[in-house]
Amino acid sequence: MCGIVGYLGPQQAAPIIVNGLKRLEYRGYDSAGVCIVAEDTLRIGKQAGKVANLERDVNPAAIPGTLGIGHTRWATHGLPNDVNAHPHTNADGTIAMVHNGIIENYLTIKKKLLNAGYTFRSETDTEVLVVFIGMLYQQLGDLELAVRTALHEVEGTFGIVVVSTHEPDTMIAARRGSPLVLGIGQQEFIIASDASAIISHTRQVIYLHDNEMAVVHRNGSFTTKTIGNEKTHNAIQEIEFELDAIEKGGFEHFMLKEIYEQPNTFRDGFRGRLQPSEGNVRLGGLSSVADKLRTAKRIIITACGTSWHAGLVGEYLLEQFARIPVEVEYASEFRYRNPIIDADDIVIAISQSGETADTLAAIREAKMKGATVIGMVNVVGSTIARETDAGVYLHAGPEIGVASTKAFTSQLCVLTQFALYVGRMRGLPAAEGRQIAEALEAIPDRMHRILEQADGIREIALAYANATNFLYLGRGYNFPVALEGALKLKEISYIHAEGYPAAEMKHGPIALIDANMPVVFIATRDEIYDKVLSNIEEVRARNGRVIAIANEGDEHIAAVANHVIAIPETHPALTPILASIPLQLLAYYIAVERGCNVDMPRNLAKSVTVE
Ligand code: AGP
Ligand code: GLU
Repeated sequence: MCGIVGYLGPQQAAPIIVNGLKRLEYRGYDSAGVCIVAEDTLRIGKQAGKVANLERDVNPAAIPGTLGIGHTRWATHGLPNDVNAHPHTNADGTIAMVHNGIIENYLTIKKKLLNAGYTFRSETDTEVLVVFIGMLYQQLGDLELAVRTALHEVEGTFGIVVVSTHEPDTMIAARRGSPLVLGIGQQEFIIASDASAIISHTRQVIYLHDNEMAVVHRNGSFTTKTIGNEKTHNAIQEIEFELDAIEKGGFEHFMLKEIYEQPNTFRDGFRGRLQPSEGNVRLGGLSSVADKLRTAKRIIITACGTSWHAGLVGEYLLEQFARIPVEVEYASEFRYRNPIIDADDIVIAISQSGETADTLAAIREAKMKGATVIGMVNVVGSTIARETDAGVYLHAGPEIGVASTKAFTSQLCVLTQFALYVGRMRGLPAAEGRQIAEALEAIPDRMHRILEQADGIREIALAYANATNFLYLGRGYNFPVALEGALKLKEISYIHAEGYPAAEMKHGPIALIDANMPVVFIATRDEIYDKVLSNIEEVRARNGRVIAIANEGDEHIAAVANHVIAIPETHPALTPILASIPLQLLAYYIAVERGCNVDMPRNLAKSVTVE
């Protein structure tokens, strides 16, 4: 995780770096720091906590100099304190580095350095690497060569940016496993973990590949090459989103803004793709694998967290519409149990960030075993997007809130279209296809109807903000919604919450129910509606408090539940898209009432680039 920024150019570096760090703070917020190369010294300001603390106590933007680096940390090695904050420096304080990732063999390297007489200030793996680079610099007298030589010995993952007083007109970046984007301006360069820290300076970027490095110079020249020193030729690309997409636009939090964006982001997910009159969909990114999809015997979906929940809905969709067996796997488990995969299998990776280390490792495993790998990714140009054989972008725009909201509904938008696409080539009748396509088109308006009820949802949230536990129950398509609702609440309010298939309640969780236990039921009218109604009665009989997500005008539910949030009717397979929105709002308002930082919940980071 963590966000890194580096600047070299004619302007003062520190304010640019600090602004970049603020944009990247969603990636980690344990500590923040900058290092500016000022004449022949490195001037460092760093501190535990958020970038705002650093600004308040250290005022790093006042440090003069036109070359520098910055970091916002998500700690893996060592406490989140001032000493462990990045940037770290070599022994004589002439080389500074920021790092995203984990140096897995840092203890081996550290031992060597200790034997050679070096000492360490921090507990981080990062400091070991920069001290190692420093030792090599002493021997080799060339910063780039020292970095390359050190990286040859490194196991694990890194995105690093290195600067030094020895070479005040050069900045060096390298990556393996952690993302890095090089922004190319007028005689200036800005390197960052993602494009959001770059866009206010330039839209021209190069996405570095794994095992690649960039060396940039004050005279405006730069090279990209492999860590093995072979030149690479990367196309310069244009950042696609606009600046306002990464700003709060009048909302109190990014999460709320992103919840409200969903009617638009959802529409962007099917615009130009859906063909309602033909009951079909055009997914250009999949044409190269269409034949494989027509004949595949099995689909494996792999993802983490919220994206995994979307994958569970995808399983139901694909089995219903395409009649193809689907397995949904946690990416982290999948890669380590030597999964049985053959060349006929299709593996789908779902990821908002496109950088999740576990998901990336899972698709590498699948590719190695010969499967065709498809990506459903939000961030354009991200590693997963690049490493998959084919894919469909989510088009949800930048998602900054750590708790995923609009990316989830966009994932469901893409998965529904994918199921329609594969279904139609495997015998789904056009008439059924038309129903699905028309229902998808109608979703954005229905989302508006739910968002209009935000005040009512807020009132319910206030009544339960002091609860210590929550249960979320749903069946069929609504079971993954229960899991997702519980995850949202846990992540941002720190209330313990569990999602369960409603019918499983009687096999255990029912023991938890008493007057203090709020139970959220997703109880929309579908084939198993009556059964869910009985489950609600069972909770009521034990004095549990019921918050029901039900269809508009449902009198039965209104009679038994303590609170009802009404959502419009839709095709049953699309219910999760609508049902998840009130749960996002419920979690949001509970967390705000409890005084939690919803955009940056404790211990979390937006993209998990470590395993
Ligand atoms: C969602 O609210 C979480 N923050 C988290 O579970 C997330 O969905 C997961 O880490 C996967 O991320 P990805 O979609 O970027 O791969
Ligand atoms: N491993 C490094 C640390 O703990 C970097 C972690 C990160 O990616 O933020 O400081």
